Amino acid sequence: MIRRHLLLKEMGLGPIWRLRDQGDDLDDGSPFAEALTEVETPAPIAPIESAPANSPGSTPSARAPARAPASPPTRIGTPPPRVAPPRVATPQTTAEALPLATARTAHIQQLDWPTLQQEIAGCRACRLCESRKNTVFGVGDPQADWLIVGEAPGGEEDRRGEPFVGPAGKLLDNMLASIGLKRGDNVFIANVLKCRPPQNRDPDPHEVAQCEPFLLRQIELIQPKIIIALGRFAAQSLTKSDARIGSLRGQVHQYHGRPLIITYHPAYLLRNLPDKAKAWEDLCLARQTFQQ
Ligand code: URA
Repeated sequence: MIRRHLLLKEMGLGPIWRLRDQGDDLDDGSPFAEALTEVETPAPIAPIESAPANSPGSTPSARAPARAPASPPTRIGTPPPRVAPPRVATPQTTAEALPLATARTAHIQQLDWPTLQQEIAGCRACRLCESRKNTVFGVGDPQADWLIVGEAPGGEEDRRGEPFVGPAGKLLDNMLASIGLKRGDNVFIANVLKCRPPQNRDPDPHEVAQCEPFLLRQIELIQPKIIIALGRFAAQSLTKSDARIGSLRGQVHQYHGRPLIITYHPAYLLRNLPDKAKAWEDLCLARQTFQQ
């Protein structure tokens, strides 16, 4: 408790993680140690302005719009106005589920970026729509090389309609900075689920099945060169496995033809400091894989 209290007191003022050689000692003075001294500061994440090219009312394009050179980070997280498509009933049997799911997936697969945003904002395909305040589409560069995938919005993300805005988000920003990346700049951050499960409970398989076509369409439009899954849930969803995260990390998986690296969720790292060194190794593996 005392240690945590002292850590919290210190947070926010420490230096940002710095890029180090992989051979560096991972304990004392590791980038993670530095990050954790600043992670829970309620320092505001730099405001990211709306990009008109991606706003729901803008001219639709099949591919996500091109990144403007040297533009400020692009905010995609602003929830577009709600539309109310017909509610998709929860299927009772596999036989009923198949045509419904197939038609819905086919529909989502042909959406462009603005209409994908609108469909997600108005989605009523599972019961999470009943408790959410906002859908969380994702945030960042719609042509990013790096795609970060978390689990699902938490309370703050649900309120703000943007992913990773709490303490875990601050740590995520520092993790990105440690490999020379910045939220919104060649990075897009999304979640497996676009709506918050009540009380942050684990997502259920039906919710994941309804939401996955959205993530897949985001990937098709963004065309990232590498994907990083954060935490057990995202890792298991993307690898279609129930293996423990400890056995999934440390290797390069594939998700729909793109390299996928698994690492710990920043919220987990906030509670489990010793695993910071492993997460740093994962980020180094991601950087190395990207460079190859
Ligand atoms: N945790 C996640 O997995 N995603 C968020 O957006 C916030 C917290």
